[in-house]
Order: sequence, then C-alpha cells, then structure tokens
Amino acid sequence: MDFSIKTFDAKSTVNATKTGCVVVGVFENKKLSSSAAALDKKGEIAAALKSGDITGKIGSSLLLRNVADIAAERVLLLGLGEEASAVSEKAYTQAVQAAARALSGLGANDAILALPAVKERDAAWTVRTTVLAFRESIFRADGLKSKKDATATGVKKVAIGVTPAVATAAKNALAQSIALANGMDLTKELGNLPPNVCTPTYLATTAKKIAADYKMGIEILDRKQLQALKMNSFLSVTNGSDEPPKFIVLKHMGGKAKDAPTVLVGKGITFDSGGISLKPGAGMDEMKYDMGGAASVIGTMRAIGEMKLKLNVIAVVPTCENMPSGSATRPGDIVTSMSGQTIEILNTDAEGRLILCDALTYVERFKPAAVVDVATLTGACVTSLGHHNTGLFTRHDDAHDKLAAELLSAGKQTGDTAWRMPIEEAYNEQLKSNFADMANIGGPAGGSITAACFLERFTKKYTWAHLDIAGTAWKSGPAKGSTGRPVPLLTAFLINRAG
Ligand code: BES
Ligand code: MN
Ligand code: ZN
Repeated sequence: MDFSIKTFDAKSTVNATKTGCVVVGVFENKKLSSSAAALDKKGEIAAALKSGDITGKIGSSLLLRNVADIAAERVLLLGLGEEASAVSEKAYTQAVQAAARALSGLGANDAILALPAVKERDAAWTVRTTVLAFRESIFRADGLKSKKDATATGVKKVAIGVTPAVATAAKNALAQSIALANGMDLTKELGNLPPNVCTPTYLATTAKKIAADYKMGIEILDRKQLQALKMNSFLSVTNGSDEPPKFIVLKHMGGKAKDAPTVLVGKGITFDSGGISLKPGAGMDEMKYDMGGAASVIGTMRAIGEMKLKLNVIAVVPTCENMPSGSATRPGDIVTSMSGQTIEILNTDAEGRLILCDALTYVERFKPAAVVDVATLTGACVTSLGHHNTGLFTRHDDAHDKLAAELLSAGKQTGDTAWRMPIEEAYNEQLKSNFADMANIGGPAGGSITAACFLERFTKKYTWAHLDIAGTAWKSGPAKGSTGRPVPLLTAFLINRAG
C-alpha cells in the first residue's frame, strides 16, 4: 500500500482532485464537514444525511457515486459523531478504521482523505493514526496456510489531505509512520509464527538480517560464551530444551560516538511450557507469544533503522525455550546469576526474570543512558491492568520519575499506553529465601510488582524501567494474534530522545 501527502489549497481543491474515491466527514446533527460541504454543489450529500442512509455516528460510512460537478469517481462519507470545529481523537481513529474497511472492498485503485483536523493533535499524529489503521486492515497472518486468506482488494494508494500550513510536518511524519508500520509488521509476524519455526535461532537470524539491512552492529552469543560470562540464571532456563539458547546484541549507533546508548532488553522465551512447574494445557499454545518483548525490541530496531534515527540504541535479547525434561531445572534448585546474587528457583514458570536478570547485568558494560526492558512477564499484570495498558515499573526518584514520564507520554502520544505501578521495599520482602539471596517468586499477591522488584535488584548501576506487556502484546480468542505493541510506544520514546 502506497501512502502520500496531498496538499489542498486554493488552486488544488478537493472538488478538482481526480481520484477513485474522496473521503470526507459528516456529523450526527446532519451537518457537513467543510470538505463535504465543498463537494456538495447539488445537495446530494445533505440529502443522503437527511434520508437517514448515514447517521453520522462515529464509525458509520456511506458510499456515493456520480456526485455532480466533482472530479472524484466516488465519495465516501464517514461519520464523525457530534459536530465540533475539530474532531475528537476517538472519532478520527474509528473513522479511519471504517474507511480502511470500506475502501478495501471497492473497485477504486486510489483514495484521498479530506478529513477535519483532530482536537489537540498535530499532523504527525493524524498521519501516523491513518497509516497504522490502513496497514492494520491489510495485515494477514497466513504465511503458513496453503490457501491464503482473502487479501484486501480495493485501494492500493492512499493520499492524506492536509492544509499547506502542516504539509512539511505531515511529509516528515509519513516516512516515520511507514517505518513504524514496517517495524510493527515484523513484530506481529515474529509473534504469530509457531514456536517450532520461531526458535531462538530464528530470532537470531532475523536480527542478523536487520543488522545487514540497516548497517547495525550485531553479536550473537551462544551457550559456550554465556557459560564463560557466568549467566547461570539464564542458562538454567534452557536446561530442559533441545533448542540452543541465543543472546542477541544489536547496535544502532545513529548518534554521536561519545553519547551513552539507550538500551532495550526484550524477553525472548520462544515457548513457555512452565518447565517442571508445568502450565495447564488449555491455552498453552499462546505461550508462543512469550517472546513478545524480544519481537517488539527487534521490530523497534527495524523501525528506527529505516528512519535512520540519530540516537545510539542497543537491543539485547536473551532467548531460549522453557521446557520440562529429565535435565530441566527443578523447583528448589539454586543458581548463581551473572551478578553473583544467588536465586532459589521455587517455580520454574517464573523464568522470564531468570533470563532477564543476567541480560540486565550484561548491559552494565554499555554505561547506558537508560535501560528499558520489555517482557510478557506476569499473568498478574493482566489481572491488574487488563489488555489496555502496559505495566510500567521504575524506582521512585527524580531520574526514574523522568524516565517514567518519557515512557508514559510516548504511550499517550501513540495510543499505545502504559500505566505506572509501584516498586517499594514492602513488596521486596516477599522475595525472601531461606537458602539463597532471593527466591524467584513472591507469592500470589502483587505478582507483577514482586516480579519487577526481582528485576530491580539487577539494575542498580543505571536508570531503568520495566514494561510488562503480558496483557498488551497479543489478543486471544477469535481475533488471536500479535498486536505489535509496544513498538509505537518504544519508537516514539526513542524519537523524542533523539530530539
Ligand atoms: N510468560 C508468563 C507470563 C504470562 C502468563 C503472560 C499468561 C501472559 C499470560 C510467565 O513466564 C509466567 O509464567 N509467570 C508466572 C509467574 C508465577 C509463577 C510467579 C505467572 O504469571 O503465572
Ligand atoms: Mn513462565
Ligand atoms: Zn514466560
């Protein structure tokens, strides 16, 4: 799908524009948006509203052909809700989603959107929201079906109409939005692939390809090298699996050589059976998504690589399977992490923190400006925040409040939102072990917080935040599939940091 920015001005009006379909807004009180009014020389659009063929409610749509005195072949009316001088974020988002659906079934090859500005949102927001809605509508996860899903027919070219005042901003935002959509598609693809295809080795190969495509540095550490680094906590998770573990380091050094890098760490469990603390069978297939942190970090690297972002960013992905076998880690086993801290593994299903803690120690060598880890870490996070917000955890001091604010605002900016949770001494008590420095579980109460407290113990040397994406990385049920989150949040966070 091709996107472009179309500038409307006195010379280039919406009426005179040749296109398969021009898309305009109408309101619930039967009023027309300014571009709809401009097209309505003979009153056909007003008549359609009056007849009740379209309500103007958010998400409603109606296609008109042969509208008099205009150059476009068709007019697609979109409901934008109650009339306002600038429409709401929600109205715009749902309207472009409806437009993407409607346009996918049309004979038209191209379309032009001529929609009103969005309240308190800039052109960059509008362009990103539009591109992501259209790209989501044509995304298919049918690579392994022998008969492909019906592909979206209809429009191949979408022009986003803007006023001259914001044309430059819109054009800059367009390239970034397409790069973001490409990164999200990669994240979704990796997430949806079955665990017998998307193995640690497959993730490593994908990272190598990104490195080659965007001239990034890459290092893949294997079991021997991980042993030499004393990553015994990470390695303990691999004991039951026949798949070799990988430790991926992908470097995008787009900033000045002396600038401290921003480091992203992604949990890459390509299948989480629970290990000896085996999970129940129902829905266990969804634990192929337990590499969602890794997939989002790799997708974000693809996005910023395509953008040539002027920032130093290093992605680190510890990746392996969590399987039961005669050689698997037992509940009660004690391991010494790379940091030297010992861990009593009371539940082999709390494996994410075991692979992340060694990665968090490893990244100390980069003297990072900040470290953000991303993980499908706890079912408890889904219980507390549901599927709307990613859980955000940091220490509570000025530097960390600032990092939290950056991440929260990147989430709000993109609609890929996070919600901050506490990290406090009181929760830390739950991690006490009689036999080691800590246990890997803290009991059922506040499970997402005790998991974050566990990670926090390995991040004392830098500014750090943890994103628990257990509720946001994928959807269950009939719409089962990866969401591509939190690539929009991470990408906006990095773009903002690049300044
Ligand atoms: N990958 C899971 C977390 C998860 C579960 C994410 C369900 C999304 C949906 C993680 O490795 C895990 O199993 N966590 C345990 C921790 C518990 C044993 C302390 C959990 O959440 O049950
Ligand atoms: Mn687990
Ligand atoms: Zn897991």
